[in-house]
Amino acid sequence: MEVRLAKTAGFCFGVRRAVDTVYEQVEQAEGPIYTYGPIVHNETVVQELEEKGVKVLNSEEELKSLTSGTVIIRAHGVGEKVYELLKQQGVNLVDATCPFVKKIHRIARKEEANGRHILIIGNAKHPEVEGIRGWCEKPAYVVESLEEAENFALPMGEKLCIVSQTTFNYNKFEDIVEIISKKGYDIIVLNTICSATEERQTEAREIASDVDAMIVIGGSHSSNTQKLFEICKKECENTYYIQSLDDLDLKTSQSIRCVGITAGASTPNKIIEEVQKHVRIKF
Ligand code: F3S
Repeated sequence: MEVRLAKTAGFCFGVRRAVDTVYEQVEQAEGPIYTYGPIVHNETVVQELEEKGVKVLNSEEELKSLTSGTVIIRAHGVGEKVYELLKQQGVNLVDATCPFVKKIHRIARKEEANGRHILIIGNAKHPEVEGIRGWCEKPAYVVESLEEAENFALPMGEKLCIVSQTTFNYNKFEDIVEIISKKGYDIIVLNTICSATEERQTEAREIASDVDAMIVIGGSHSSNTQKLFEICKKECENTYYIQSLDDLDLKTSQSIRCVGITAGASTPNKIIEEVQKHVRIKF
């Protein structure tokens, strides 16, 4: 059986880097290790790390109770206040914020200093957006829908800088920018959407259109995996959505010569490898 594994399957660069950082700290750090929030939205990984002694901090209050150890900041990043808090607590800080997210923090800082209000296109409740807001002195605006964009208003003469949550949908970003641009403000727009999601989808589409069966691996609640599944299903009727190898039930009665594999953004390599090996050996 020929297997085509997507190069972009699974963790993006930023998440992989953050997860690797935690494993490195497990080897090196002395004292307890914490991540501020789960390092990745994958229970298997978080549990495995827990077994190695890595605890997840879920709130600022929990952070305030620490007096020693190492705290790792995950790829989504955090606001400046959290850095200050960690300094005050005297704990060791390891910053695994994705460099693409860090760049948005710097933009927000700089453009605000240039007298612009910051508007983030994204979901206000998402930790990445909360983190970006945490680098603004004045309250930043957040717009997620076309309706919110229509209702957005600033006093005339005010200046605006628009950035985006890294995982926001590009078409929707453009539509929102178009609505706000018509309002006549002095605007600069910086498209800070990360290409990782789009690249993963494009590659999945290409592979699915070329194989006899396609396997998409990811959590059942993972919206980016569901999206990958939809994309692949359109190209290849014989597409399977599995969470792990246990769910795989390839219908081998049909003549399958080539199988494609991709995975959602929070699927660890280990699971992808397992599925790949199994398909290669068993069929
Ligand atoms: Fe991942 Fe960083 Fe992009 S966390 S999705 S590589 S912004």
